[in-house]
Amino acid sequence: MPSDVYMKKEWNNTIEREMPEQARVPAEMHIGGVRIAPATVLAPMAGVTDTVFRRFIKNASMYAAAAPSGPWALDPDPSSVDAETSNEVSGCGLIMTEFTSADGLSRMRETKRKRYLTYYEDEHPISAQIFGSNPETLAESAIICADWGFDLVDLNLGCPAKRVVNCNGGSGLLRDLPLIQKIFERVRGAISIPFTVKFRMGWNDKNIVCVELAKMAEDCGLNAVALHARTREQGYSGDARWEWIAAIKNAVQIPVIGNGDIRTPEDAAAMVEATGCDAVMIGRAAPANPWIFRQIAQYTATGAYDKPTDMDRYRMIRDYFERLMTEVAEHPEVHGPADDDLSKRLKRNHESAQRDAIGRMKQFASWFTHGVPGGATLRREIFEAKRGAQVIDKVETFFTQRTEPQEDFAPEPDTELDAAPAWMG
Ligand SMILES: Cc1cc2nc3c(=O)[nH]c(=O)nc-3n(C[C@H](O)[C@H](O)[C@H](O)COP(=O)(O)O)c2cc1C
Repeated sequence: MPSDVYMKKEWNNTIEREMPEQARVPAEMHIGGVRIAPATVLAPMAGVTDTVFRRFIKNASMYAAAAPSGPWALDPDPSSVDAETSNEVSGCGLIMTEFTSADGLSRMRETKRKRYLTYYEDEHPISAQIFGSNPETLAESAIICADWGFDLVDLNLGCPAKRVVNCNGGSGLLRDLPLIQKIFERVRGAISIPFTVKFRMGWNDKNIVCVELAKMAEDCGLNAVALHARTREQGYSGDARWEWIAAIKNAVQIPVIGNGDIRTPEDAAAMVEATGCDAVMIGRAAPANPWIFRQIAQYTATGAYDKPTDMDRYRMIRDYFERLMTEVAEHPEVHGPADDDLSKRLKRNHESAQRDAIGRMKQFASWFTHGVPGGATLRREIFEAKRGAQVIDKVETFFTQRTEPQEDFAPEPDTELDAAPAWMG
């Protein structure tokens, strides 16, 4: 994999932002007939934003609108102009699936589709993201997503991964605007629910097409656009160039969602101020700080926000791991020899669910424990564990051995900025 599609766990930019005077993340936006409130979106992240993670984030974003007590409750002034945001119960307005191949989706059997498209009722509103380059197949899979009950369908034009780009999908399409137009028209004609697109600025600095693309999306009847303000060649390097989000906002009437390098509530407000975008989308900051959406809501309402204590972190990581283990429990272990077809299948399913859960735990741990004192030790132990229960034990021991819960962290020096493969977006 080329180095430009490797993503560091830390951001290259180190800009510390303060809340701008006027800017607030909007209380709501409408994409077609779907109300997104507040105007915050969890970015699609392949290998991360499955149903367990999405619900985990939604849950971490909850706050009690009117309850002034409790460490995370917001206590806003109901007469304030921001009251509407703070009256929402979740700080995360919209979640999206990881990207799914339109070719695969239209070919696979119903049972297999379930694996990719499963979501729970409490995830609404939810958008299904698809990628591909064939207008017919994309239209077919958009219909499948609409029939499956998704509120929106999103087209991925941002993925920089070679295996996707080589088939002309993801950011590969950014070099072929006429084909994009055909896709927009064909998919738009196929579904009646809102249809959106998420893209990068262009293939490289010589081919920046995002403004033209956004106008084309609007002309073709798409309901919103989201820009990750980098080129494909840029990968994740350098700062996201928010000025291109502003340029798109100036060029179209449909809602514009800004994305790239939001790490804190201050960043979110600064993006709104700098670009006028209608909503902010947050990716990498979510697994590192699952409270970010709630913090944005609190910051929007009060100008300040609570930071997690050690104990909050403990509860959070434990909660996520237990959710993953609950999924594994849906594929019970087969004891004794598996000598008939059914037992063999059940055994395979159990092993694959177990592997998947452990993989996700390890990945989450590597994001979530950066900056935590002693986090490197915990990461190492988690990486050595073979079973989910072992991982949970390690987490438990790590946190219970810490005597005094701390109010805040004195972050450990981050010596482990090893690049994590991130193929998408
Ligand atoms: C692990 C990972 C997987 C991603 N997968 C997708 C994806 O499936 N679809 C997509 O549109 N973008 C994907 N992206 C890109 C993000 O949605 C987002 O555009 C990018 O991370 C920039 O936002 P951030 O600075 O808030 O992280 C992915 C990013 C990461 C880190």
